[in-house]
Amino acid sequence: MVKVRPCSSNDLQSVFEIAEKYTSFDATPTFADIEGMYSRNPDYFFVAEDNSGRVTGFITGYERKGLPENVLRTWNAKRVGYVELMAVDSRYRRKGIGRALMNTLLEHFQRNGIDIVNLDVPAEQEAAVQLYKKLGFYVRACNMRKRLV
Ligand SMILES: CC(C)(COP(=O)(O)OP(=O)(O)OC[C@H]1O[C@@H](n2cnc3c(N)ncnc32)[C@H](O)[C@@H]1OP(=O)(O)O)[C@@H](O)C(=O)NCCC(=O)NCCS
Repeated sequence: MVKVRPCSSNDLQSVFEIAEKYTSFDATPTFADIEGMYSRNPDYFFVAEDNSGRVTGFITGYERKGLPENVLRTWNAKRVGYVELMAVDSRYRRKGIGRALMNTLLEHFQRNGIDIVNLDVPAEQEAAVQLYKKLGFYVRACNMRKRLV
């Protein structure tokens, strides 16, 4: 049974260590980045912990406010959520922690009236892509790149 609970400010150092190690994609998150995510959206920030209380993973998101009415209409959405960052310590993977974290965030989004959730994920993060697809996310865009020099 995976334990997921709201993140507290005491968890931020552990979250930072996991984020720094496993979510250094375009840039390595700093402690200030993690603190900023928490202080802006504490209600959408969750951690998983093991039996000894050690933080094993985290997820954070926010509501995308200020989207134009015509975009909401096109998306057939009332309120839109965004999954900002998630990671599970590699020693604890494939035990359902990522799924439990995502389901907790989605439940909170839904409870608050959010009816569409977006996220971006580097294509090479195949585990994450598989997890998201399993939970019902589908691909609606491709981010492409060509190096010229
Ligand atoms: C993505 C990540 C959070 C998944 O965490 P996890 O706790 O291992 O995930 P779960 O155990 O809940 O996996 C749930 C399902 O996702 C899929 N999945 C997870 N890892 C997978 C992998 N390595 N290969 C294929 N499918 C995988 C499976 O369908 C799995 O179900 P199953 O174990 O019953 O087959 C973790 O791999 C991670 O931290 N990756 C690095 C950071 C990252 O990419 N973050 C996302 C971008 S912000």
